Amino acid sequence: MAKHETPFLDQLESGPWPSFVSDLKQQAEVRAKNEEGVEFQIPQDCVDDLLGVLELSYKHGRTHWKHGGIVGVFGYGGGVIGRYCDQPELFPGVEHFHTMRVNQPAGKYYTTDYLRKLTKLWDFRGSGVTNMHGATGDIILLGTTTPQLEEVFWTLTHDYGQDLGGSGSNLRTPADCLGQSRCEYACYDTNAMVHFLTNEYQDELHRPAFPYKFKFKLDGCPNCCVASIARSDMSFIGTWRDNIRIDQDAVNKYVENDAAYPANAGAHKGRDWGPFDLEKEVLSLCPTKCMKFENKKLFIDDANCTR
Ligand code: HEM
Ligand code: HEM
Ligand code: SF4
Ligand code: SF4
Repeated sequence: MAKHETPFLDQLESGPWPSFVSDLKQQAEVRAKNEEGVEFQIPQDCVDDLLGVLELSYKHGRTHWKHGGIVGVFGYGGGVIGRYCDQPELFPGVEHFHTMRVNQPAGKYYTTDYLRKLTKLWDFRGSGVTNMHGATGDIILLGTTTPQLEEVFWTLTHDYGQDLGGSGSNLRTPADCLGQSRCEYACYDTNAMVHFLTNEYQDELHRPAFPYKFKFKLDGCPNCCVASIARSDMSFIGTWRDNIRIDQDAVNKYVENDAAYPANAGAHKGRDWGPFDLEKEVLSLCPTKCMKFENKKLFIDDANCTR
């Protein structure tokens, strides 16, 4: 039996997509049953109260989280995001419910053993609710109380060899694609670069020196799998250094609609997009206008290509 009735939240389970409400209900139940005999260090029913306070927000049409307040671990100016509930009498389980940002490894490589240790720690000292990974890149551990922060930090740094990530006006945890560790398109070693930047800028990562956050994100090639341009202040995108090589035969087959060279490599081929317009769809999109197609030959003025 759920601690709080949640008719509004229940609607969020009705659509076709996986629902965070279902996940939170499941987690509330796991904590209530506690089959693994965890000695919970924060209220056992905190996830029930999390659902409860969110339901109340839907009812009132406004949030019941007070924003911020500075809370953290000794010596660091970031990595913990303070959250306090403005209804502590109704929802004591989430009176404080801070987020911890944990520095994810370059390329997000883990052993299953490490992941088990991490979730075990978070069941013990936090809500057990995680976000792997937050949109910003870090491992996000959602919901613990102030006294648990130093305890979690100690275990992470001393026993797990893991650090907190950035938040607030810190440099944020650098984030990358897996790069040449697995991807054939990588033009440089993104993982090595993230490792280097993380070490080089330790101070900035942990102590807020800027008036606002600052982010590095690294893509191994212009496919931009981590969307570094949209997501960071300084993006690194791998590119090639020699002149662009052109397979004129393939270009012509593409232009002539040869079945072996479908537009967009065959994606979206179910619809009729009209005749291919080389000028409009390719040449005129070049920012430096350094491409032309004449006498069945594609020409690129490499010196003016700004890739
Ligand atoms: C239980 C409720 C909440 C959850 C589960 C939650 C979750 C998160 C997550 C996962 C992130 C990391 C974002 C990322 O993926 O990059 C984040 C960051 C953040 N959230 Fe929330 N959030 C909650 C409530 C709120 C509320 C009520 C506010 C503001 C009114 C808020 C403001 C922020 C801000 C400003 C950050 C960035 C913090 C920083 O830059 O240091 N959050 N939150
Ligand atoms: C549909 C609208 C929005 C979408 C899809 C969106 C999406 C995102 C995403 C994906 C990030 C993470 C960026 C990263 O990779 O590091 C982010 C960060 C953030 N957004 Fe939004 N956002 C939206 C609207 C807003 C609005 C309206 C606000 C403020 C009023 C806001 C405040 C923030 C803040 C403070 C952060 C920084 C969190 C951090 O540093 O981790 N966003 N948002
Ligand atoms: S950005 Fe490029 S190198 Fe990185 S994973 Fe994507 S395709 Fe591979
Ligand atoms: S600048 Fe270079 S890469 Fe960019 S569209 Fe023009 S030719 Fe292509």
